[in-house]
Amino acid sequence: MKTIPEREKPVKGGIILKQTKLLQSGKVKSVFETDDIGRLIVEFRDDITAFDGGKKDTLKGKGSCNAAVSSFFFQLLEKQGIKTHFIGMLDDTRMEVRRLSMIPLEVIVRNYAAGSLVRNYPFKEGQKLHPPLVVLDYKDDSRHDPMINDEIIAALGIATPRELETIKETALLVNRHLSAFLAGQGITLVDFKLEFGKAGKTIYLGDEISMDSMRLWDKKTKESLDKDVYRFDRGDVMEVYARVLHRISSGGNYP
Ligand code: C5P
Repeated sequence: MKTIPEREKPVKGGIILKQTKLLQSGKVKSVFETDDIGRLIVEFRDDITAFDGGKKDTLKGKGSCNAAVSSFFFQLLEKQGIKTHFIGMLDDTRMEVRRLSMIPLEVIVRNYAAGSLVRNYPFKEGQKLHPPLVVLDYKDDSRHDPMINDEIIAALGIATPRELETIKETALLVNRHLSAFLAGQGITLVDFKLEFGKAGKTIYLGDEISMDSMRLWDKKTKESLDKDVYRFDRGDVMEVYARVLHRISSGGNYP
C-alpha cells in the first residue's frame, strides 16, 4: 500500500495537497505554496513577538493553540456567510487556505478603548465605544504600520472606495458575531485586528484570528486573556491561551 509522505496529507475529496516552496516567513507564521496554484498552507509556529518584534520568544504549543482558535473562528464566521480564506486543517499547526492577493491594511475594530487608542488619544482605558470604531493602519513594518485613511488608501490605489466599504462592513459583521459568541463564554471582545485579501474580484477575510490579534477581557475579573499578558509580563501566557482555547471550544454551537 502507498504510504503518504509526511508533508502530504489528504484533503477534502481525497485529493493530495503537496506542500512545496516557502513563500513567506513572517514573525509567527510561515506560508508555503502547494502543487495547487490556488491554495496555500499557513503554518502556525511556536513563536511569539511584541512591540514590532522588539520582544520575542518561542513557547511550546503556541502554534497549535493559535491554529485551533483561528480555525474555530473562521468556521464560525463561514457558517454566518462571511467569506474567509480557510479551507481546513491539515494537522495541528498547518492550515490549508485559499491563495489571496493580500491588501496591505490592518483593519482594527474597537469596542472598548485600550492599547494605542488610549496612548494616542484622550480616551479612558475600558471606555465603551458606541458605535464600535473601525481604524485602519497601513501594514508596513518598516514604517511601524502608520494609521491611514480612506483618501490615502484611494491615492495609493490600495483599495477602491467600494472595496473599502465591503472591508469595513465585513469587519463590523465579524465583530458582531465574535462579540456575541465570546460574551456567551464570559469574555469581552475589547478590540481585534483583521486582514483581507482578494481572489479575483472577491474579498476574503485572511490571516488569523487568535489571542495574538485580539484583546480579550474576562467579563467578571477583567483579567487580560490575550497577548497583553506577554507584552506586559502579566503571567504565564501559554496557560492563559490554553484556557481561552478551552473556554471557546466548549462553547457549543453558535448562534
Ligand atoms: O496596539 P493597538 O491597541 O493598536 O491594537 C489593537 C488591536 O489590534 C489589538 O487587539 C492588537 O492585538 C491588534 N493588533 C495586531 N497587530 C498589529 C497591531 C494591532 O494584531 N500589528
